[in-house]
Amino acid sequence: MIFKPFMREGFIPLPVAFMSTISAGGVRNIAPYSCIMPVLRPLDLICLASARKRDTLDNIRQMGEFVVNMPGVELAEKVIPTARFSRPEVDEFQAAGLMEKTSSSVTAPGIAGCYAWMECELYKEYEDDKYVLIMGRVLRLEVDDNVVTSDGGLDVGKANPLMMTGSKKGMQFCTVSEIDRFEPFSAMFPNRSDPLVNKYD
Ligand SMILES: Cc1cc2nc3c(=O)[nH]c(=O)nc-3n(C[C@H](O)[C@H](O)[C@H](O)COP(=O)(O)O)c2cc1C
Repeated sequence: MIFKPFMREGFIPLPVAFMSTISAGGVRNIAPYSCIMPVLRPLDLICLASARKRDTLDNIRQMGEFVVNMPGVELAEKVIPTARFSRPEVDEFQAAGLMEKTSSSVTAPGIAGCYAWMECELYKEYEDDKYVLIMGRVLRLEVDDNVVTSDGGLDVGKANPLMMTGSKKGMQFCTVSEIDRFEPFSAMFPNRSDPLVNKYD
C-alpha cells in the first residue's frame, strides 16, 4: 500500500514521553510528546519537536529546562488528560491526578510512577514557521532499579514502555518486546572494537 508522506509516523513506533515543566510563575505542566529522539551515541543530547503553541515550549523557553519522563503502559490512561488543551494557569499534575517526583538538577518536578527521568537543560532550538526543534542536554538520568537489567540496560518486559503508532483514525498504543538476539556495539566495527567503550565507565 502507498500512504501519504505525512503518515510516516504510523510506521515508526514512537515512544510516548511525558514532558514536565514549570512556568516562571510556578505553574506545573505536563504534556505527552512522541516526537522525541536521542542525538547519537554517546552524546547527552535529546531532541524533541514541538508545535509552536505549547505551554511546554513556553515553559522551556522561560526556565531553560524540562524533564522527560518515561511511562510504562499502566500510565496510558493519563495520556489524554494531559494532552487536552488546558489554560497555562492550570496545574496539570493536579488536573491529571499525577504525583510529582522531586528533581535534583532542575526546578521542574518529574512524574512519580514513571520508570525513567531525564532532567534536561535547554541547549539549542531551531524554529520554523510550523514547529520548533528543542535540543536539551540531559543533566541527570535516573532509572527505577526494578527495570534495570544486570547488564545495565532496560528490562523492557518489566518496564513495558508506553509507545504508539498513528493511523488515519487515531493513536494505537503499544509496547515493545525483546527478540532473542543481542549484538555488542563492537560488532559494527571492522576491528571488532567499539571506540566508545570507555565512555560507559
Ligand atoms: C501520544 C501523543 C504524543 C504527542 N506528541 C507531541 C509532540 O511530539 N509534539 C507536540 O508539540 N505535541 C505533541 N502532542 C500534543 C500535546 O501533548 C498536546 O497538544 C498538549 O495539550 C500540549 O500541552 P501543553 O500546551 O501544556 O504543552 C502529543 C499528544 C499525544 C496524545
